[in-house]
Amino acid sequence: MIILGIETSCDETAISIIEASGGAKIRVLSNVIISQIEIHKPYGGVFPALAKREHARNLTPMLEQTLNEAGLLTSSKQQVSSSKDDDFKKLLEREPELLAALLEFLPKIKVPKIDAIAVTYGPGLAPALWVGINFARALSLAWEKPVIPVNHMEGHVFSALLKKSRKEFPIFNFQFPNTPVLALLISGGHTEIVLIKKPFQYKVVGETRDDAVGEAFDKAARILGLPYPGGPEISLRAEKFRKRRRTSDQPLATSYHLPRPMIRSDDFDFSFSGIKTAVLYMVKKIENLTEGITEDLREEICYEFEEAVTETLLSKTLRATEKYKPKTVIMGGGVTANVHIQKMFKETFEKKFPDIKILVPEKNLSTDNALMIAVAGYMRALHNPKKILEPNGRKMKALRADGNLSL
Ligand code: KG4
Ligand code: ZN
Repeated sequence: MIILGIETSCDETAISIIEASGGAKIRVLSNVIISQIEIHKPYGGVFPALAKREHARNLTPMLEQTLNEAGLLTSSKQQVSSSKDDDFKKLLEREPELLAALLEFLPKIKVPKIDAIAVTYGPGLAPALWVGINFARALSLAWEKPVIPVNHMEGHVFSALLKKSRKEFPIFNFQFPNTPVLALLISGGHTEIVLIKKPFQYKVVGETRDDAVGEAFDKAARILGLPYPGGPEISLRAEKFRKRRRTSDQPLATSYHLPRPMIRSDDFDFSFSGIKTAVLYMVKKIENLTEGITEDLREEICYEFEEAVTETLLSKTLRATEKYKPKTVIMGGGVTANVHIQKMFKETFEKKFPDIKILVPEKNLSTDNALMIAVAGYMRALHNPKKILEPNGRKMKALRADGNLSL
């Protein structure tokens, strides 16, 4: 099966084409991402209307690029029929720029040899999700291909199950791990612990009551005068402080302390807004007493912030592990790109639960991408063909963006 995956839930526009057969081997024919980070930087976070506009602008050129890379682009002289033109225009009436680009591009190519289109329909920013969904539906209409709606968080779970084949790159081996699985999903919009007793059966056993952990990284960074996205900025400075401490002649104890919210509560829930507020007060206090925050001090606060977040995530995951006794622990979402968090999880689990396998996404697969969406779509289609929406069918027409979709 050849699947075209589309991801537009937040500030990355991504398209990927995969070829898969039998379930275990995934050949990546193309995998393209355009990050909108630079566009959202001045706002200190993602600005939904801009994200929507950028997705609409990016998708058609990216489609051309991915089809080309996958060897599926063939030019044609045949025009799309005019009856379809009307449906097309209606479907994309809120995305005039995307409509114009597609009306120009599609008649120039032959229907590509793909079997289905997988698209993220939630969770995420509704205006951004809608662009991806309407784009997928437009392609489905033009090419008469089915659509597989994908839950973005299931994509993050599956991203940890893809392992690069050393011999035959760009092939990834995909394997369902031993169950029960506990998944810690940490991203800009989510922080949750999910119990997976059987493949495709999810139960959220703990989640954040306020900010997501990535959001806390982004907000703390902003308070510290660092650009969006804050995660990599904070992590870089925390590492510098650690290095300074390792190489310093004198022991360099940090004099700044941040809370570890809810670390002793009996449940598996999180709360990160308190840490962010504590950073704000800390910074205000320093600014009142001194001429401002020095880079050394900023590094020290970043360090303390990363330690506080890591300890909180780890302690809750360990507690959930004691209760649910998983055979595998999966980490997914943009924050798993954090080297310190990964290292502490691996070291602690190795010590306390050496029999439990920890799976984290390969580099570049932690943050949003369309490869994970194509793979999740493929796996869903194999597992439950009812999830496939036939072109022009009733279910296709009912497909909606669901910003708050849960697993
Ligand atoms: O999964 P993702 O790409 O998008 C969402 O679905 O939200 O996650 C983005 C989040 C941002 O908040 C970003 O600051 C955070 O992941 N992030 C990191 C790191 N790299 C990205 N957080 C901590 N450390 C990192 N190295
Ligand atoms: Zn994500």
